Amino acid sequence: MGTKLRVPTVTVIFSVLVLFAGFTLAKQDQELKRCQHQCKVAQKLDEEQRERCARECKKYYGEKEEGKGEEEEEEGWKYWSLVEDPRQKLRKCHADCERVAEEDERVCQQRCEMRWVGEEEEGRDGKKKEKKKEKEKEEGKEEHNPYVFEKGHFDTRAKGEGGSVFLLPKFTERSELLQGIENYRLGLLVANPNTFVSPVHMDADAVFFVTWGKGTVTLIRENKRESFNVERGHIFRIPPGTPVYLINRDDNEKLYIVKLIKTINLPGHYEAFSCAGGKNPESLYTAFSWEILEAALKTSRDKLENLFKKQDQGYIFEASREQIKALSQHEEGGSGSGKVWPFGSESRNAFNLLNQRPSQSNNYGKLFEADSGDFKPLRNLDLLASYVNITKGSMSGPFYNSKSTLIAIIVKGEGYLEMACPHVSDEESSYEDKQSGSGSSPSYQKINSRLRTDTVFVVPPGHPFVTVASKNDNLELACFEVNAEGNVRYPLAGKWNVVKSYEREAKELAFKSKVEEVDQVFGNQDDEMFFAGPEEEEGRAFM
Ligand SMILES: *[C@@H]1O[C@H](CO)[C@@H](O)[C@H](O)[C@H]1NC(C)=O
Repeated sequence: MGTKLRVPTVTVIFSVLVLFAGFTLAKQDQELKRCQHQCKVAQKLDEEQRERCARECKKYYGEKEEGKGEEEEEEGWKYWSLVEDPRQKLRKCHADCERVAEEDERVCQQRCEMRWVGEEEEGRDGKKKEKKKEKEKEEGKEEHNPYVFEKGHFDTRAKGEGGSVFLLPKFTERSELLQGIENYRLGLLVANPNTFVSPVHMDADAVFFVTWGKGTVTLIRENKRESFNVERGHIFRIPPGTPVYLINRDDNEKLYIVKLIKTINLPGHYEAFSCAGGKNPESLYTAFSWEILEAALKTSRDKLENLFKKQDQGYIFEASREQIKALSQHEEGGSGSGKVWPFGSESRNAFNLLNQRPSQSNNYGKLFEADSGDFKPLRNLDLLASYVNITKGSMSGPFYNSKSTLIAIIVKGEGYLEMACPHVSDEESSYEDKQSGSGSSPSYQKINSRLRTDTVFVVPPGHPFVTVASKNDNLELACFEVNAEGNVRYPLAGKWNVVKSYEREAKELAFKSKVEEVDQVFGNQDDEMFFAGPEEEEGRAFM
């Protein structure tokens, strides 16, 4: 298989690997372990091949360290390709690169291409039919799984030379099962190091969640300017109509912000109005006639035309180090001291979830959360924001939310999701069919999906679900719960699971069993919320 990797590329790969030595070496140990694990669980291999595969991993990673020959490398890949789908590897590799600074990202992406594209093409020729079938299956499955969105589902909403804003389509466009969150949209802002995100206001309410990088945000509140620094874990609210601009103040890391937008005008629709710009982004001023602008701004048409024709770099673009430095030091109050008053405390405009005590924590995971009680600006939004960090090989749940809808995005790691859903069924029957159904008790479909960076999933109220972290990495999620006020999280396993609270007689009646038998099942798990994950996970197909 691996022999198809063309010879000329090998030399290039090798030099890129060397170029990238810092990046690679740090991960080497981890990659070796991962490789060996993949060998162990690979279904396509027999015992002898598995051992050989593990040896090849060792050889491959051991030798890379010493900068040894290329032939062996190829040999190593041969076995890699047996244990994991090359398309998956390519996607994963690309996703990993996106976290790297721009210059390095190019090299990193190149490296991915060189490592995996050959194999991918090979697969394409050899397994065309199989793939087509797979794809059809995937597409078919998607119809029955309206709850999970991959990176490819995002549209590019705004763009610039220094980054983009991506937006998921309206939830109800996907499925009427998501009517409960009809007025919400989920977006993702990605800005390169040292960039400026130009001023806009929106006809919508928004909560921003920083999942990576460092920024400085400026809001114009009435006639006052309020700036505050944010970094991973910070949430902040942008009320409707509030002018906002921000910068990525880091020299190396990209800035990632997940946006939950609550529409207030047209259900599920909003616009961003550019209160700057010219050609690109188009300025809202240019919608008016010159006469009006001349009169309103008390200036001449020449000056207006001159000013509004310059900007053509789009919505996000690079700024000089000096500009970034200046913008990141204008803290609240504009004193320029770089300190927020009172000294050392958090800005009242932003709240860092990760600096709080977790509300749930054990060896298997941590949950950080904030509602309007913790962070006043969330008032009237009926919203809870949370950050979940599931330890590798562990899982969260099963539990369900009594009335809130969860919208989660994977920040880091891989794993899978299982959810029970009575609305979606295996057969062709649609939601409507079920509505007018026979009246028999519901049958639950297991919604099953692989999770990786930037995957979004939605869990409606009452729907029990579990998220499982892969054995290789922690699974980290940024979550929004809407309609959160008065919500109760009902655990279906663990110390406080609902069945445990039933009366003795109710347990016996409900399960047609002796109470001891019921307790043997529901009384065993003493942990809460986060548990050790399954040994041989069924979700392996997704890993
Ligand atoms: C999640 O947990 C891991 C392991 O404890 C830790 O290294 C990582 O920094 C955590 N992530 C966040 C965002 O705190």
